[in-house]
Amino acid sequence: MASTFKLSTDLPAWKELEQLYQKEGKNFDVKQAFAEDPKRFDEFSRVFTNYDDSKILYDFSKNLVNKEIFAKLIELAKQSGVEKLRDEMFAGDHINTTEDRAVYHVALRNRAKRNMPVDGKDTAQEVDDVLQHMKEFSNQIRDGSWKGYTGKQITDVVNIGIGGSDLGPVMVTEALKAYSKPGLNVHFVSNIDGTHIAEILKNLSAETTLFLVASKTFTTAETITNATSAKNWFLKHSNDNKEAIAKHFAALSTNEKEVVNFGIDPKNMFGFESWVGGRYSVWSAIGLSVAIFIGFDNFEKFLKGAEAVDQHFLNTPLENNIPVIGGLLNVWYNNFFGAQTHLIAPFDQYLHRFPAYLQQLSMESNGKSVTRANVFTNYQTGAIIFGEPATNAQHSFFQLLHQGTKLIPADFILAAQSQNPIENNKHQKMLASNFFAQSEALMVGKNEEQVKAEGATGGLVPHKIFSGNRPTTSILAQKITPAALGALIAYYEHVTFTEGAVWNINSFDQWGVELGKVLAKVIGKQLDDKKPVEDHDPSTNNLINTFKEWE
Ligand code: F6P
Repeated sequence: MASTFKLSTDLPAWKELEQLYQKEGKNFDVKQAFAEDPKRFDEFSRVFTNYDDSKILYDFSKNLVNKEIFAKLIELAKQSGVEKLRDEMFAGDHINTTEDRAVYHVALRNRAKRNMPVDGKDTAQEVDDVLQHMKEFSNQIRDGSWKGYTGKQITDVVNIGIGGSDLGPVMVTEALKAYSKPGLNVHFVSNIDGTHIAEILKNLSAETTLFLVASKTFTTAETITNATSAKNWFLKHSNDNKEAIAKHFAALSTNEKEVVNFGIDPKNMFGFESWVGGRYSVWSAIGLSVAIFIGFDNFEKFLKGAEAVDQHFLNTPLENNIPVIGGLLNVWYNNFFGAQTHLIAPFDQYLHRFPAYLQQLSMESNGKSVTRANVFTNYQTGAIIFGEPATNAQHSFFQLLHQGTKLIPADFILAAQSQNPIENNKHQKMLASNFFAQSEALMVGKNEEQVKAEGATGGLVPHKIFSGNRPTTSILAQKITPAALGALIAYYEHVTFTEGAVWNINSFDQWGVELGKVLAKVIGKQLDDKKPVEDHDPSTNNLINTFKEWE
């Protein structure tokens, strides 16, 4: 919990990595490294085997590391106590020190029902009870035995939540759409912009709609405002039938008191505990929309896929520990090469919300500048995560990746088998060829000689040169099944964990979101008053006053 070092820069391995960067890292030529070592791919790739025996290949070999650098990064993980912190997380210790809480989302996917106590209480039974409730409820919605207030079955489920109570369910339902049931639709309302809920409600009928109000705290302003508008809409369209609310509203939360205050029957509440962080909550009751959409059996496979990665993370020596390797490579680029960003580009349309999901996971976790020892860092922490589905991104921002002035480490993700192998699998082959070509092009580049040999002359030559040597990690799954998706998410969770441990920061709080929320509350009140404001800075005063004038 309390770390034994203040700053990561004080660790001997950090200092040695600084020297290694100067000596070998900054001029490292990955193409050359492949030429010199025919076994490089074997050396730097790992295969993860899931509980159902499906595989995911992680090819780290196109990264700017050699054996010596890799060994030193592993040493850095050891010296910074990655293993100790990991073991503490799995033991239910309060590693979220600033909120004095355990970080125990791993207990949500404990399908083997290992003894996983927290605060002196076992979690396996409680987790199982909630899952049983989710199973019954999702089965009833799916088989039509749950009826709305006029006796019709539910056709549309609207999840109202924000941040972790939205991004996970949105991303997973999109990613696993191929496993959904025709005739049962899910919608997501997160934005406080009235347009979001208004556009969704336009096409729905109160008789056949179920609202899931998803909020860990049940106090988040956007969610409660959206949920209240949904309730008002429902009452308006059901002749003010207050009793009908019990058939059309459920809550996913840790806060029973507020759920009851809101008017939701506690029988329709699916609970979880404070040791589940918002951005780690898709595995909890917050995943109810997922269970309804893809069916409980698939939801359980999703949990089991994550559980398999948890066991790998917990039990595998660091040099073969796939998320540890992923996290350490990110540290290498972030802190030694000075990379500011990290691209995640899935070659998979169903994964189109995966980068957005990972933005919260990584940036809310590791966007910190104070260490566990309560001092400011003198080094960079979390990278700016961005991404879009490739191959679309190839036709927009990949130019900067290939020829820009910045180093942008990238993860490319592909499933070998498409869920929609249309036109004799032609689309899938084109998709896959781009997946292979992009990482190859980024690595091998094209030099002046080659450009000239292709006929370019004069001033055009430099424009056609690709420096190459741009690092990528290729992640190749067999298929994006619920189990594979669970494994991929858990991989990124533990990558984020590893980075945070090395940087000695608390990856589990989010104090940085508070200030804006507090100021918005104050300003919200001022917007109800016609008088111009003058108690902010001049820019904010003028913006508010212009809004009041134009409103
Ligand atoms: O404001 C950030 C945050 O607290 C996230 O960490 C969380 O996922 C989100 O808000 C939503 O919180 P809640 O589930 O409590 O409504």
